[in-house]
Amino acid sequence: MSAQDQEDVYFSTNPPPRHLEAHAAQARAFIDAHAAAGRRVVLVTSGGTTVPLEKQTVRFIDNFSAGTRGATSAEYFLEAGYAVIFLHREFSLTPYARHFSHATTGGFLDFLEVGQGGGVSARPDVSAKMTEILSRYHTARTENLLLSIPFVTIGDYLHELRAISRLMASLGPRGLLYLAAAVSDFFVPPERMAEHKIQSTDLGRRAQQAAAAAAAGQDPSGTDSPKQDSEEEEFDNFDSSPRVPRSKRLIIDLDPVPKLLLNLVDGWAPRGMVSSFKLETDPTILVTKARYSLERYQHHLVIGNLLATRKWEVVFVSPGREDNWLRVKRRGKEWTDEDVKRLRQGEVPKEEPGEEIERFIIPAVKDLHDQHIKANA
Ligand code: PMT
Repeated sequence: MSAQDQEDVYFSTNPPPRHLEAHAAQARAFIDAHAAAGRRVVLVTSGGTTVPLEKQTVRFIDNFSAGTRGATSAEYFLEAGYAVIFLHREFSLTPYARHFSHATTGGFLDFLEVGQGGGVSARPDVSAKMTEILSRYHTARTENLLLSIPFVTIGDYLHELRAISRLMASLGPRGLLYLAAAVSDFFVPPERMAEHKIQSTDLGRRAQQAAAAAAAGQDPSGTDSPKQDSEEEEFDNFDSSPRVPRSKRLIIDLDPVPKLLLNLVDGWAPRGMVSSFKLETDPTILVTKARYSLERYQHHLVIGNLLATRKWEVVFVSPGREDNWLRVKRRGKEWTDEDVKRLRQGEVPKEEPGEEIERFIIPAVKDLHDQHIKANA
């Protein structure tokens, strides 16, 4: 099947999110305003996508991403003069709020106190930091430089990504797509997705079958009558695992999510700069997989990172250039060759990074974007 056919099938069979049109209208107005002002616009995608197991979703598959990379990057893009569309997983980290909403030292309320006069104010020890971050946030909001759009599922994400990327096309080479979301590679297609909560007991399943038969005008007594779990006797030992009846297992069969990056690069935003992330856990394949991604999708930059060391080091892989490793400084220590070797093998230093790696990533991406604009003007 061609990439276009795959796209058509995917988008015609997977329903759009409820607010897609409203989000697209917001994105259009935002892009038009900044294009008129000659400002660059970046679409930052951030956080994990869920894979629902039921249409009326009780259970879903998720991934590890908290949206740190995306939220932090968005702040540095704003600092670098970009207007930012922040397409993020609902309730994941957001620019500026992230400093207080998900701190390891406490929840948001822990940073506040009730003053003697009864009003609420920042705790004295965090007051200076909060004032500084609040003022950056207010500037971004009052100057309309930050548009936040949420998604939840993989389907929502892909619909939103396509709609916003197509709008970004009007920016030509001045548009930048920075794809940092952790995109699920597998999903349950709608035609195989249960409508209701998947039942964990035989009783529940049979009750569901009987109700469905009754609704279809069939004789519900034709279906097996509900039995207690304890009556279940059929065992399946096909995989020699513990003797759990097959009827009690949840066996999930997932389809691959179509690789839509090709469609984005070729069709949705063909003149913009497209930068994607490649996540691996095995250090021996990271650069090879990043190069492979670049060759496959023919875009402009792949930023490779290992799950364990992603806050310490990333590698820029781009056409016609040497691999460029960016690494943060250590607190009170210099990197030795041996330390770097261990880091590259996925060994995490004991202390926290001395700074945010996005401080280095964003200027380096901007530099490549400058070159992209010049080359495509
Ligand atoms: O949020 P944090 O905790 O800070 O973590 C940040 C991060 C590790 C999630 C981020 O830095 C990162 O690596 N994001 C990309 C994760 C990812 O989806 O990697 P991947 O190797 O599975 O996918 C590679 C590329 O294929 C992605 O650019 C994606 O756009 C593309 N893809 C993926 C699936 C799909 N169906 N179609 C695609 O085109």
